[in-house]
Amino acid sequence: MTTELVKNIDWIGHVDWSVRDFHSFDTFRGATYNSYLIRDTKTAVIDAVKGLYAQHLLQHIAEKTEPAKVDYVVCNHAEPDHAGGLATLMANLPNAVLLCNAKCRESLAAYFDIGNWKIQVVSPEDKISLGNRTLNFVNTPMVHWPESMFTYIPEEQLLFSMDAFGQHLATSERFDDQYNLETILTEAKSYYANIITPYSKQVLRTLEVAAKIPIKMIAPSHGLIWRTNVSKIVEAYQNWAGGNYAPKVLILFDSMWDSTTQMAEAILDGAAQESDKVDVQLLHVRRTTLTRIATEMLDAAAVALGSATLNLQIMPQMASVITYLRGLKFTSKSAIAFGSYGWAHAGSDQLDRWIEETGWTRLTKPIDAKFRPTPEILEHCRNAGQLLAKAALDVGN
Ligand code: FEO
Repeated sequence: MTTELVKNIDWIGHVDWSVRDFHSFDTFRGATYNSYLIRDTKTAVIDAVKGLYAQHLLQHIAEKTEPAKVDYVVCNHAEPDHAGGLATLMANLPNAVLLCNAKCRESLAAYFDIGNWKIQVVSPEDKISLGNRTLNFVNTPMVHWPESMFTYIPEEQLLFSMDAFGQHLATSERFDDQYNLETILTEAKSYYANIITPYSKQVLRTLEVAAKIPIKMIAPSHGLIWRTNVSKIVEAYQNWAGGNYAPKVLILFDSMWDSTTQMAEAILDGAAQESDKVDVQLLHVRRTTLTRIATEMLDAAAVALGSATLNLQIMPQMASVITYLRGLKFTSKSAIAFGSYGWAHAGSDQLDRWIEETGWTRLTKPIDAKFRPTPEILEHCRNAGQLLAKAALDVGN
């Protein structure tokens, strides 16, 4: 089914209700690959879909126009969840010229045999007239890949924003005012945390460019289209990219025989007792997805990382967590490390080193407990929780 955004501009993408893994992103609500069709004097398709669903996209195009009438296919981003369907599309749209920037052409040449494709490289100076509408292009490097760009139609004040402002959310609705806004924003936050965070500096530059153009509607490549809450999602991006943290303490831990659990809970008690203005969250990393952990990390001002020692290492799932978090480059947090050990301690030391290497502020030395935490060590943990809460309040207010 297609959906009209404005007269003669339609959503023609694919809703992937069943996808549950997107290169390790836990897409428990499914996903969409959004594609759009503009019918004017000339006809253009904005972005394709995952290769597996290219035939669905062709069917949607055929419902609206003859394939031979498509003049342009715009590729805003070469990642295969969008560009994967291009080979099928270009083979079935005999008169289409692919519009992309120079970097994107390089990427497409590495993915596909583009020898038979008609390609026109575009830059921000180029304007492609479709008749009553014009395609404008804004390069947005690293949001999400080097070749990423936005396409903008000034006559409609309509921005095709590719991954930016997207959400992994399968729905039969297409617009932000047709679905629960809190859920959309939660999924947009999760998407930002897990996909966009490493490129926050580039996001801030992109938002500066976007602020100079009037925008009535943002049509991303994933999830719902923003037409009623444009300012809300732009403001959310400003906060996430700007590192505007909440007064929130996040405690991540893994335990063997519950000693590190007891320490984590003592830290939680100390933080919660310090102030009811602080949101304190405790996540057992072996029972929580990496996707949720990164989402909670995005706006946490203060963090406690705890692990028991296993074979002179941190617990394996905690190792996975800190590897994932390192790549996402969360910056400027206050933190402590803690953990129990048996005959040789290593877990809390390794986490403490990770905190230092990541450039976060260490609030105390690592807290250790041999086999079981004593009442004194649990009191130490409560005090550390208070320190974390104070740090979170300082940053989050
Ligand atoms: Fe939705 Fe970066 O691809």
